[in-house]
Amino acid sequence: MSSSDSVSAAVSMRFDAAPGALSGTVEVPGDKSISHRALMLSALAVGRSRVEGLLEGEDVLATAAAMRAMGARIEREADGIWHIDGVGVGGLLQPQTALDMGNSGTSTRLLMGLLASHDLTATFVGDASLSKRPMGRVIDPLSQMGAEFTASPGGRLPLTMRGTVPAVPITYRLPVASAQVKSAILLAGLNTPGITRVIEPIPTRDHSERMLTGFGAHINISNNADDERVIEVEGEVELRSMNIKVPGDPSSAAFLLVAALIVPNSIITVRNVTMNPTRAGLVTLLENMGGKIIRKNPRFLGGESGEIVYDLQVMHSVLTAIEPDPAAVPSMVDEFPVAFVAAALAQGRSVFRGLHELRVKESDRITVMADGLRSIGARVEEIEDGLVIDGTGGEALEGGATIATHLDHRIAMSFAVAGLASRKGVTIDDMRPVATSFPGFVDLLRALGAGV
Ligand code: S3P
Repeated sequence: MSSSDSVSAAVSMRFDAAPGALSGTVEVPGDKSISHRALMLSALAVGRSRVEGLLEGEDVLATAAAMRAMGARIEREADGIWHIDGVGVGGLLQPQTALDMGNSGTSTRLLMGLLASHDLTATFVGDASLSKRPMGRVIDPLSQMGAEFTASPGGRLPLTMRGTVPAVPITYRLPVASAQVKSAILLAGLNTPGITRVIEPIPTRDHSERMLTGFGAHINISNNADDERVIEVEGEVELRSMNIKVPGDPSSAAFLLVAALIVPNSIITVRNVTMNPTRAGLVTLLENMGGKIIRKNPRFLGGESGEIVYDLQVMHSVLTAIEPDPAAVPSMVDEFPVAFVAAALAQGRSVFRGLHELRVKESDRITVMADGLRSIGARVEEIEDGLVIDGTGGEALEGGATIATHLDHRIAMSFAVAGLASRKGVTIDDMRPVATSFPGFVDLLRALGAGV
């Protein structure tokens, strides 16, 4: 949500046990990560790009507004297709006012990268949630490339950066597994002479690499002797405009998949969801818990460097406990809140570890989920890097409580789903944050038969 909106009234809502089963075929909005990148790279290309299926959530609209403020022409046609006239690599202009990033960490970190190799000064501001999140992870590598930063204490927003031309190409080994940090450096590398190189000890979502390839950037991906992924981008190469079809967001589909798994007799299909392996961790986890999920009609959107999509059919299932491999964390990093809900209804003890990064998302998702789940009757123990959850074995949760969402869309949606499998319903104190990533969430749940 935009920082100015945070003063408007909260919208609380109660989610009750679904009166019957959930059923139907639906689509979720476009993928958030891909939508941000589509706007940013189109804005840097030469010529007019066309984007279909763009996520029209507040986070992505914050990116659009920022790119417009720096000279790109971005228009939405009546048919929902977006057209972007780019300014060419290195052609972004000095923004006249602060860039309002709202709730969006992805907009902030990727744009910091993009602007680091431009001759301009930009100030980034955001809402209360974003202003708590660490930016040091991008400030460090971008400073090595020559950009200068004045940040709030702890390396936080509001911050002002001064980009530099020419920037210095670096080789940077990621100290945290973060696609945002990787992408920030690669985007900075686009207007930097020579080769900018990122080493990824643990692979993270690869949408930037795929889309850069599509736009004609010179990208080279290999594995080093330690089997770490090495991504190189050659700077000062022109990007050519593209037609992009954005697939459905697996991080949004996640809520519907878990809802169908835990509400008895449900069977639903979510069409057109990307199952890029770097994003498919939750579906694999749910399958390993005994969830009946059928992946149908695989097809590529946008050729070989594009994204693979499936229609996912999912049925109510008896779930069993799980101990996910910490190496799989990046492939489902945003899906843990709703995975915890699935575990709370499974048979046995689930142990989630290696989740430090969840503490610096839109909220501290370990503590907030532990407190919320306990308040609706789940048995949960918080540990430093995760949660231990003793599931009900399929019995509905007690419910009855009101959940504080802390400006975190995924907390709101996870507990909405938990409400559908509770005896007394679950009230969400503020549903407004859902508009950052999943406009239409409540209508979709209603259409499937949920009690809202
Ligand atoms: C994103 C990467 C992830 C994810 C975020 C989107 C991206 O963040 O949580 O919602 O689009 O690159 P990290 O890279 O910080 O893990």
